[in-house]
Amino acid sequence: MHLILTGATGLVGASVLHNMLAQESISRISILSRRPVKMAEGHDKAKVIIHTDFKKYDQALLDELKDAQGCVWALGISQNAVSKEYFSSYGSAHSSQAHIA
Ligand SMILES: NC(=O)c1ccc[n+]([C@@H]2O[C@H](COP(=O)([O-])OP(=O)(O)OC[C@H]3O[C@@H](n4cnc5c(N)ncnc54)[C@H](OP(=O)(O)O)[C@@H]3O)[C@@H](O)[C@H]2O)c1
Repeated sequence: MHLILTGATGLVGASVLHNMLAQESISRISILSRRPVKMAEGHDKAKVIIHTDFKKYDQALLDELKDAQGCVWALGISQNAVSKEYFSSYGSAHSSQAHIA
C-alpha cells in the first residue's frame, strides 16, 4: 500500500510515521515536507519530497502520488498558538487545495 503523509516533522505526524514504518502492509510512504525528515532516513520505503507551498501541486508531483491509496494530513498548527479564526482557516486552506489537486 502506498500512502502520503504530511506534517511528519510534527508531534502527530512523527507518531504516524513511526507506525507507518513498522507496518508491513505499507510498502511505500511519500512524505511531503518543507524540510528533511530525520526519522525517514535509512528507510527504503519512505521518500521525503521537499515541498514548500502546500497550496500548489505541479503535474510531476501529482504523477508521483497518483497511485497512493490514502493520505494522512498531519500538517497543522497548535490551536493555542493562533486565534480561533486563523486556526479554523489554516488546515482547511491547505488540505482543500491538496484535495482539489
Ligand atoms: N498535538 C495534539 O495533541 C493534537 C490533537 C488533536 C489535533 N491536533 C492537530 O493535528 C495537527 C498537527 O498537530 P501537531 O501537534 O503535530 O503540530 P506540530 O507539532 O506543530 O506539527 C505541525 C506540522 O505541520 C507542518 N506545517 C505547519 N505549517 C506548515 C506549512 N505552512 N507548510 C508546511 N508544513 C507546515 C510542520 O512542519 P515544520 O516542522 O516544517 O514546521 C509540522 O510538520 C494540527 O492541525 C493540530 O491542531 C493535534
